[in-house]
Amino acid sequence: MSATANVCVVIPAAGLGERLGLNQPKAFVSINNWSLLSLTIKRVLEISRVGHLIVAVPADSKAEALDHIDRAMRDADRKIAFDVVEGGETRTESVKNSLLALDQLDSLVLVHDAARPFVPKSVFENVIEKLDSGSKVVIPVIPVSDTIKTVDEKSEVLNTLDRSKLRAVQTPQGFAREVLSEIYATADLQPTTDDAGLAELAGIVVTTVEGSVESFKITTPFDLEMAQSFMNRK
Ligand code: CTP
Ligand code: MG
Repeated sequence: MSATANVCVVIPAAGLGERLGLNQPKAFVSINNWSLLSLTIKRVLEISRVGHLIVAVPADSKAEALDHIDRAMRDADRKIAFDVVEGGETRTESVKNSLLALDQLDSLVLVHDAARPFVPKSVFENVIEKLDSGSKVVIPVIPVSDTIKTVDEKSEVLNTLDRSKLRAVQTPQGFAREVLSEIYATADLQPTTDDAGLAELAGIVVTTVEGSVESFKITTPFDLEMAQSFMNRK
């Protein structure tokens, strides 16, 4: 893949944020008056190779999403082509719907959650660089610092996993466009918590690159408090 291949970023932002419990889609929740969606798009706009953005949002939220996209583009003083699509019941369906809006020229596609608004530019660069060098599926990961055990239905420990082989997986997850389209085209699409999971099911090699602790995912009220502190840090 040439180093000038067009990059499209898909942002699944159609989740309801039930664990956050604020009765609004998580992507529209604000920190310091900036929605998670706007913050995320501002980060995406720092990557000059990205020329197309596709955002999946809950049904009936398209107008609100347009405001958040517009605000990010005005603040970054950079406007790129974008599409807003209706998400589905699961993240997997939201991404699948998003892929219908891909442009012929989008040869690399990065899928990045709106729930990770502080992803550093370096992580996008790591993923794009690996795709440029020929990898078809690339995911950013970080080492795991907790010891991880599996438990049974009685909450009793079954075993302890070898931590040196474990990685916590983040987004953006990057794909050669034809590979992403192929893994989402299967008729009995299984919901997976990340996109690379579908590649694994299809037997496609998934390559890892360095992620960042700053790219933490906002899921719970405590995560939102941490995000607030992170944004206000000196
Ligand atoms: N997402 C999506 N469509 C869905 C579900 C999730 O686009 N049907 C998106 C979310 O908006 C988020 C990302 O996928 O950016 C990761 O999902 P998650 O953190 O689980 O967010 P929510 O589904 O909103 O949260 P919850 O599971 O607590 O309701
Ligand atoms: Mg969810």
